[in-house]
Amino acid sequence: MDRIRIVGGRPLNGTIPISGAKNATLPLMIASLLTEDTLILDNVPRLADVIQLQRILGNHGVDIMIAGKRAGEAVNNGRTVHISAKSIVDTTAPYELVSKMRASFWVIAPLVARMGEAKVSMPGGCAIGTRPVDLLLMALERLGATIEIEGGYVIARAPRGLRGAEITFPKVTVGGTHTAMMAASLAQGTTVIENAAREPEIGDVADCLNKMGARISGAGTSRIVVEGVPRLHGARHTVLPDRIETGTYAMAVAMAGGDVLLQNGRPELLQAALDVLIETGVSVTVTNEGIRVGRNGAGLAPVQVATAPFPGFPTDLQAQLMALMTRARGVSRITETIFENRFMHVQELVRLGAHIHLDGETATIEGVDRLKGAPVMATDLRASVSLVIAALAAEGETIVNRVYHLDRGFERLEEKLAACGAAIERISG
Ligand code: UD1
Repeated sequence: MDRIRIVGGRPLNGTIPISGAKNATLPLMIASLLTEDTLILDNVPRLADVIQLQRILGNHGVDIMIAGKRAGEAVNNGRTVHISAKSIVDTTAPYELVSKMRASFWVIAPLVARMGEAKVSMPGGCAIGTRPVDLLLMALERLGATIEIEGGYVIARAPRGLRGAEITFPKVTVGGTHTAMMAASLAQGTTVIENAAREPEIGDVADCLNKMGARISGAGTSRIVVEGVPRLHGARHTVLPDRIETGTYAMAVAMAGGDVLLQNGRPELLQAALDVLIETGVSVTVTNEGIRVGRNGAGLAPVQVATAPFPGFPTDLQAQLMALMTRARGVSRITETIFENRFMHVQELVRLGAHIHLDGETATIEGVDRLKGAPVMATDLRASVSLVIAALAAEGETIVNRVYHLDRGFERLEEKLAACGAAIERISG
């Protein structure tokens, strides 16, 4: 198993190219199941989760062609992927594949919409508390599918097709909104999705579906209207930049000090996080090329933050902010409102010398003058990157074990940080 070795104490200076968003790429790839034609996606990041989803789609009979690097193309350019679900040979998504990544459960929506049936294993993914799928299934039922649960599998059937309906989510759910939107695109009649998630990736998927011939309006607001169409066609779409990767590197610079351009970063995708960084005393400047983040010598001010659905502070940046606040001058409070049990990074940060007290869903972080390197363990995708951030400011050597979690969501992390001066390397095996 690969490990990452970091020696802390070096500032970051230079440019970090931001990759295409993982959380848009996955549903966009899944949307390819809605059409017989080819969907072409540009700016697809090289991530373990993307490869895993390729396997899952391949199992349904989907052909995926990844264009090679063309002459003159920089290594950091995302890849172009051609996806063709001309014939779906199997409507079952087996446990062995789905259990590795929660978002793969979302294939249930396009499969039942196009094929009239789907049998999908209950999901797995990051170990961050119970992450049920009841709201996704409620949405499909509202659209006329029947749902049965048998032997760990969900079987959805709609032999005569789905019908438009009003779907009101009692809780904001990104996966629920994606799946409702995809399924409703091929339903007969109009669907109204109330209390929809407003995450930018929802808007990106809606844009792509509209290019494929769907009729979706209101994506990006909490009320989405979908007029169903009988069929969708091929399209070409560029994946939007990853706001979580952008915020993560912004916090890395805030932690290590220095001055870095986050190339292609788009401020409107993470304004709440940038506002928090500004509050800590970090300088954030928007340029034509992206977002420039800098900190020179000054200490970090503590903050009080609660995670919230977009446009609030994202849960996917909670662990990274906590790492940063371990070095603040004073006491910070971070409350997690989206996922229970998303604090597995706390005990590892404490191993590096952080002072953190957990009380229910709130962590109180008392900033310390110094962290000290130690061996630590990555437990989930976002938690693992918080350990890297802490290690950048820790004295001596930190070894982050189990970095396969990082590879699920961060493209070439160690190369991007090393190019800006971090002492970081991957140890294989
Ligand atoms: C997506 C993101 C993930 C992010 C999360 C919240 C992708 C691939 N993943 O995950 O990175 O952390 O949004 O921004 O885009 N819930 C239910 N029943 C359901 C579905 C969800 O109770 O049927 C609950 C969840 O347990 C959680 C909350 O709703 O408490 C939000 O979850 P949701 O927005 O659905 O997260 P994901 O779509 O899985």
